[in-house]
Amino acid sequence: AVGGDHDQTVVIGLAADSGCGKSTFMRRLTSVFGGTAEPSKGGNPDSNTLISDTTTVICLDDYHSLDRNGRKEKGVTALDPRSNDFDLMYEHVKALKDGVSVEKPIYNHATGLLDPPELIKPPKILVIEGLHPMFDPRVRELLDFSIYLDISNEVKFGWKIQRDMAERGHSLGSIKASIEARKPDFEAYIDPQKQYADAVIEVLPTQLIPDDNDGKILRVRLIQKEGVKHFSPSYLFDEGSTISWIPCGRKLTCSYPGIKFSYGPETYYGHEVSVLEMDGQFDKLDELIYVESHLSNLSTKFYGEVTQQMLKNADFPGSNNGTGLFQTIIGLKIRNLFEQIIASRAKTPVGAAQAEREPAIV
Ligand code: ADP
Ligand code: G6P
Repeated sequence: AVGGDHDQTVVIGLAADSGCGKSTFMRRLTSVFGGTAEPSKGGNPDSNTLISDTTTVICLDDYHSLDRNGRKEKGVTALDPRSNDFDLMYEHVKALKDGVSVEKPIYNHATGLLDPPELIKPPKILVIEGLHPMFDPRVRELLDFSIYLDISNEVKFGWKIQRDMAERGHSLGSIKASIEARKPDFEAYIDPQKQYADAVIEVLPTQLIPDDNDGKILRVRLIQKEGVKHFSPSYLFDEGSTISWIPCGRKLTCSYPGIKFSYGPETYYGHEVSVLEMDGQFDKLDELIYVESHLSNLSTKFYGEVTQQMLKNADFPGSNNGTGLFQTIIGLKIRNLFEQIIASRAKTPVGAAQAEREPAIV
């Protein structure tokens, strides 16, 4: 095992139900770091792991303790904690964080079986994504930052139909039935994790069209926790104020129903948060620069970086609305958090800390 906590791994947790945009978010995140996450080049083509220069993304389905048959026999879903091995998940995340490689199992989504393990080396940034990254308190404690993608039922349904009907040939009835069957366990075990998240991206139907049932236009809220180490929330115009802004006019093209931004302080599960909201969608993505110029604390390295990222990944789902915008901002925030953690370690290496305490020896 390679070791040493001098180059410890930064660990990010990304929680959401399946089909809620986790892989799209991961693509935006690795793009901010300048790389592309590729499937692991280990032996198993069914590996769920993605690797880029800086980042390794582990899918927590790999910690299923019961395979598809086992779940069927016991009558439990994949969302049920009893289908998952949290002891092993904790041991592995802890080891990787300490710079030690692990042999991680692989849950094969094609066969529903557990395949032989693959070697995971400690990366600079480890992302654990899946149903339960913030479920177990020991794992939660190891996270340097956590995100929850909170997709409302109406919107989730629309996305699932799009994917499972168009791409996987399922019927409308079977999609409805599978969503209904997951609901109790989703509400018991997945949804409550959002109270622990440092950032929540909430996706709701628009309020710009009365009684909209279409689900095409989205109202997206970025809920940012206050007081999180190495994370300071982005804001609109004036930090701490409550703001409502309709940017459509001379500088931004808006067709019906327009775009509305909001910003302000709120309370979320007893925590102080700042919420940035965007309802509606962009007609012309390059005009996003006008909106970007009114947002502050974006953790960009140069003027226009948010817009540049959005244009670069314009073909990803959600690029014309708040889902893409806020995923990009959180990607920049994670880069900034990573750089701050590295910088704070460089300032206080073990030796230097010791020397400060015992100046007489020097
Ligand atoms: P997950 O990794 O959580 O299963 P994906 O990122 O693969 O989710 O997204 C699942 C599907 O949901 C996509 O194929 C797409 O149809 C839809 N989707 C995801 N994100 C968005 C978005 N921001 N806007 C619209 N559709 C989306
Ligand atoms: C979720 C989990 C998967 C699981 C799927 C279906 O999406 O993330 O790991 O394969 O549910 O579960 P099933 O028990 O029907 O195979």
